[in-house]
Amino acid sequence: MSARAPSKQFNLTSTDFGTGFSWGISTAAYQNEGAHNIDGKGPSIWDTFTQKKGTIYKAQNGQTACDFFHRYKADILLLKEMNIPNFRFSLAWSRLLPKGYGHISPQGVDFYNRVIDFCLECGIRPWITLYHWDLPQALEDHGGWMNRDILGWFEDYVKLCASLFGDRVTHWMVLNEPMVFTGAGYFLGVHAPGKKGLKSFLPAVHHATLCQAIGGKVVRGLVPNAEVGTTFSCSQINAFSEKSKDIRAAQKADVLLNRLFIEPALGLGYPSEDLPILKRLDSFKKEGDDQKLLFDFDFIGIQNYTREVVKHSYTVPYLHAKIVPATDRPVKTTLMDWEVHPPSIYNMIAKFNAYSNIPKIIVTENGAAFSDNIRNGAVHDPERLGYLQQYLYQVHKAQQDGYKVSGYFAWTFTDNFEWAEGYFPRFGLVYTDFPSQRRIIKSSGKWYRDFLGNVP
Ligand code: GAL
Repeated sequence: MSARAPSKQFNLTSTDFGTGFSWGISTAAYQNEGAHNIDGKGPSIWDTFTQKKGTIYKAQNGQTACDFFHRYKADILLLKEMNIPNFRFSLAWSRLLPKGYGHISPQGVDFYNRVIDFCLECGIRPWITLYHWDLPQALEDHGGWMNRDILGWFEDYVKLCASLFGDRVTHWMVLNEPMVFTGAGYFLGVHAPGKKGLKSFLPAVHHATLCQAIGGKVVRGLVPNAEVGTTFSCSQINAFSEKSKDIRAAQKADVLLNRLFIEPALGLGYPSEDLPILKRLDSFKKEGDDQKLLFDFDFIGIQNYTREVVKHSYTVPYLHAKIVPATDRPVKTTLMDWEVHPPSIYNMIAKFNAYSNIPKIIVTENGAAFSDNIRNGAVHDPERLGYLQQYLYQVHKAQQDGYKVSGYFAWTFTDNFEWAEGYFPRFGLVYTDFPSQRRIIKSSGKWYRDFLGNVP
C-alpha cells in the first residue's frame, strides 16, 4: 500500500494518463432531473419513498432537484466550458415507460433525445446508465426486484433504450451499484422502497444479478460497436485487529461489499463459501440461471469513496461482523462520515484487476462531500480539491503499476439530491444555489477544468 500523496505535491496533468484515458463526470436522473410528474412521467420508488415520514433528512425530496429537465442545455454548455469530454447520466425508467412496461411516453423519449443530441452537438460523449435506483413504482407494486417477472420488464426496458438511443450512444452501463440498491433498499430499508430483511434482499440480489447480464446481452445485441459495462460500489476492507475473528469478519464484509455481484457474471458463482448465508440464494435459482448470470462486460465501472474497518460482532445476525465507524477512529472524514483514504482506490483497482477476465476498469464515480466556503460569489472547496488530487494520484499510480484502469469520472457535476441525506451533503464540482438554481463552478471544478484542458 502506498503512502498518501499530499495534494501540494500533485503535479500530474491529464495527459500523464495517456491519450486513450476517458475523463468525465457522473450524475443520476433522480438526483438531478426534477420534473418528477411533468410530461407524463410516472412515479418511481424514490418519488414514493421520499413522501414517507422519517425516511429523508428534513423530509426533502427530488421533485425539483437541480431541475436538469428544464436546464439541460445550460448545464451541458457548462460541462463544455469545464472541458469535460464524457458525461455519465442515467435514464429514468418511468419517464420513458410511466408504468414500467407497455405505454411509451413520447415526451420522455423526446427529452432524452434532446439531451443526447445536445451533448453530441457540444462535442461531449454521453455515457448512459440504464438503472440508477429509480424503479417505476408500478413495478414495485408488483414486488419490484423481488418478483422474477422483473427479468422480462427489464429486458423490454433495455431493448427500448438500446433501440431508441443506440444509434448515437456507444457507452452503456447496465446497473449502478447493485449492492447499494439491494442492501439499502431491500435489506436495511433506508433507501427506496424501504423493504427489510433477508426475505426481500435475497430474491432482489438474484434478480438484479440476472438483469445485470440480461441487460448487457441486449445492449450488445442491438448496438453495433457498443462498449458495455456495469458499475459496482467497492471499498477497501481492513480487519479491526489481527484476531482471527476480526479477520474472518472482514472477509465476510468483503464478500458483501465487493464480490457478490461481479463474481457470478465472471462465471465464479455467488461467493457463498466465504459467506454461507448466500447459499440460500439457490432457492431462487431456476434451471439455466447459472448460464444466464454470465456476461463478458467490455468494462467494469468501480465506484470508490472510502475504506471500511470491520470487526467481529455476536449481535449482527447472519454476518457476525460490523463496521467500526470512521468517526470512532482517528482519521479524516467527509460530511458523510466516510474516511478519506486515497489508497483505497488503488487497492480496489488492484483487486478488480486480479480477476482474469475483466478487460478494462473505469472509475465511474469518486468524490467527496465537504462544506463549501462561499465568499463574494466564489465557492472555495480546498478539501474536495485535495481529496480529488490524492485519489487521482493513486489512480495514476495504479495505471503506472500496470493495472488496466482507463477512465475516471468524478462524482458529481452540480450539488444534487443525496438520497436519504437530502441536500445536506454537497458532492458537486459545481455549486447549486437551490432556491435560484444558479450554478457556480467551485475551485475544485475550476481545477478539474484546467486539468482536463489538455485532453486531446
Ligand atoms: C454512490 C451513488 C451516487 C451518489 C454517491 C455519493 O453510491 O451511486 O448516486 O449518491 O454514491 O454518495
